[in-house]
Amino acid sequence: MEPKPFKAFKAPERILLGPGPSNMPASVSQALAMPVIGHLDPAFLMIMDEVQEMLRATFQTKNKLTIPVSGTGSAGMEAALANFIEPGDRVLIGVIGYFGERMVTMAGRYGATVDRIEVPWGQVLDLGEVEKALAKNKYKLLAVVHGETSSGAQQPSIKEMAVMAHKHGALFVLDTVATLGGIPVEVDARDVDVAFSGSQKAISAAPGLAPITVGARGEEILNKRKTPVGSWYLSLSEVQKYWGKERTYHHTAPIQLNYALHEALRLVAEEGLEARFARHQRNAEQLWKGLEELDMELLVRREHRMATVTSVKVPPSASHDLVKKRLLEDYGIEIGAGLGQLKGQIWRIGLMGHSSQRKYVSLVLAALREILASG
Ligand SMILES: Cc1ncc(COP(=O)(O)O)c(C=O)c1O
Repeated sequence: MEPKPFKAFKAPERILLGPGPSNMPASVSQALAMPVIGHLDPAFLMIMDEVQEMLRATFQTKNKLTIPVSGTGSAGMEAALANFIEPGDRVLIGVIGYFGERMVTMAGRYGATVDRIEVPWGQVLDLGEVEKALAKNKYKLLAVVHGETSSGAQQPSIKEMAVMAHKHGALFVLDTVATLGGIPVEVDARDVDVAFSGSQKAISAAPGLAPITVGARGEEILNKRKTPVGSWYLSLSEVQKYWGKERTYHHTAPIQLNYALHEALRLVAEEGLEARFARHQRNAEQLWKGLEELDMELLVRREHRMATVTSVKVPPSASHDLVKKRLLEDYGIEIGAGLGQLKGQIWRIGLMGHSSQRKYVSLVLAALREILASG
């Protein structure tokens, strides 16, 4: 049989205003096109050192163990759980949406007894309830999501939760996949023990790397483990031997993804964290105002909204799928669908990293106005 003549693929141009990935700046795309070099090449080792240094600045931490895990945000999540859980440990997970659920599932797979503290999607955890839950049992860790991409809710009182977890002898783990680079994470100031993220959202690098940072309490647990980590690939003590001084081969680093992350983090530093956070907040507020002017209802109360992802309810007269389709086909704009229990009920509009631009806010509002008016 004749081989099928496949055409070279050309990716369409999109304005990525969904819950991730976000658009990459041109210099980040160009970084991806540089040649592969060896994962122990001195030039690559230099990039690795700088990536770690810039990640520390972005996480706002001095933690030595701060690296990009090879894999997407879920690999970061898995690393943040697998390394600190031993079979039989009891853990407490805050569930304010889809990604809290994912942590529950993962923790269970690593042999933990999982208790959950939960609120309806769109709401956030109450500190008093967290304290009550922590007091019920001896927990190895408390894990919560900082910015719940599935609902657009941002969990406040992170520092207070970390203090509570420590008072009860638990490690505090934070999912910052949708917040790092767009909303202050402040790992050291808030005493967060383990934070993980993704490269493709407010950092605007290519998907495929998961920054993680581990503080002293976490390192102590790693050093005292009685059983090997349930995942060979994500075992941080071993991965660290490649990223640290030893430079021992563990797995082949995704070379180009690290080039792209290096360039994206360089742009984060160049803009400055404070200016970047202010840009995200400013553009989000413009979006919220514009959506309300279109008589649309936002899912999350103002004080709990996150700047990176906004959930807006689908008006009764509109079709969830059709509006999304028309935004993509007529305007080249991608927005996100409702997930899980909010499937079909909300759209999620992301303004993250390079996608958080005033002109995109105007564009998506104008497009929505036109589509909704045309029925
Ligand atoms: C809050 C949160 N956690 C975890 C993940 C998982 O990341 P990934 O899809 O990159 O594996 C996501 C992705 O959307 C997320 O938004």
